[in-house]
Amino acid sequence: MRAHRGGAMRVLGLESSCDETGVAVYDSESGLLGHALYSQAGLHREFGGIVPELASRDHVRRLLPLIRDVMDRSHTRPVDLHGIAYTAGPGLVGALLVGVATGRALGFAWGIPAVPVHHMEAHLLAPLLEQEAPPFPFLALLVSGGHTQLVRVGGVGDYELLGESLDDAAGEAFDKTANLLGLGYPGGPELSALAERGRPGRFQFPRPMTERPGLDFSFSGLKTHAVNTIRAHGGNEQSRADIAHAFVEAVVETLAIKCRRAMQATGLVRLVAAGGVSANRQLRQRLLRLAEEAGGRVYFPRAEFCTDNGAMIALAGCLHLQTGERAPLGFGAYPRWAMTSACGAGL
Ligand code: KG4
Ligand code: ZN
Repeated sequence: MRAHRGGAMRVLGLESSCDETGVAVYDSESGLLGHALYSQAGLHREFGGIVPELASRDHVRRLLPLIRDVMDRSHTRPVDLHGIAYTAGPGLVGALLVGVATGRALGFAWGIPAVPVHHMEAHLLAPLLEQEAPPFPFLALLVSGGHTQLVRVGGVGDYELLGESLDDAAGEAFDKTANLLGLGYPGGPELSALAERGRPGRFQFPRPMTERPGLDFSFSGLKTHAVNTIRAHGGNEQSRADIAHAFVEAVVETLAIKCRRAMQATGLVRLVAAGGVSANRQLRQRLLRLAEEAGGRVYFPRAEFCTDNGAMIALAGCLHLQTGERAPLGFGAYPRWAMTSACGAGL
């Protein structure tokens, strides 16, 4: 295995946990050198959701050409790399295995370390790809299709879970409600656009679990509320937009209430929002206002790095390699993997 003797570290990142194939090259001194994403959304649209077997097969087709393309465009040869980071979980097991096996095999072939990365940890670190990166410690609101979590982040690998959803994730609630409103898949962005045309105040959705103390979430009740409201009032386009508006407002307000509570509980006023739903315009505006009121600051990844991508995986892998961590030679995919129990290359 080639040894790394200080200086800049260059890492290839591979993401294949769900329906996006992402590849990137990140350099600890020069930053992001190149990245590319292939979205399978078109492949799954007619089924109204992700078909796991189709996802795995498509990753197999896309991954190697994408790696070749990103390495060419970032003028990176295998010999220039110090490591390969791949998403090892959580996610769809077949989809994960494509990135895991490819990353591990290329690591062997090129004589460099291969680092398993936790997908949600990578989301959480994604704002560090930006010019104005948040300094540690900070609070992180992770809002994706599979997870809604509040995490206290002390540094790389130092994560304390403060609260999480007891049922549906915020993104899942967006997708399911979008589906009920007859919107396409994935529903989050379309529902958000419909909500912009809605009139405030016509419908009032609950703010689940905000009456009780604590930092956990529950979003499945909102979906039921949406079903009933659509049944009673969802006849025309304006009413559907009004319902979308009330739904988005409820999710955003619930997230903001819990963020404010977490800021008060921890004394931390730096907040990171990451994961697919953090691309949502209404949520961004609300959290900007919240941070201002708290005398703090909120940090987001750029919109394309809120949703799944290879850049956040390359960055997370690089940060772990820089701490001197090395992964065992075996490999595995972990469909369910708690971020706080075992994070980092040591697994
Ligand atoms: O982080 P992500 O790309 O994948 C997972 O790790 O799950 O998140 C995908 C989720 C989907 O539920 C999608 O509908 C939601 O993020 N999403 C949005 C927006 N963009 C993506 N939800 C609300 N507003 C958006 N603009
Ligand atoms: Zn994700």
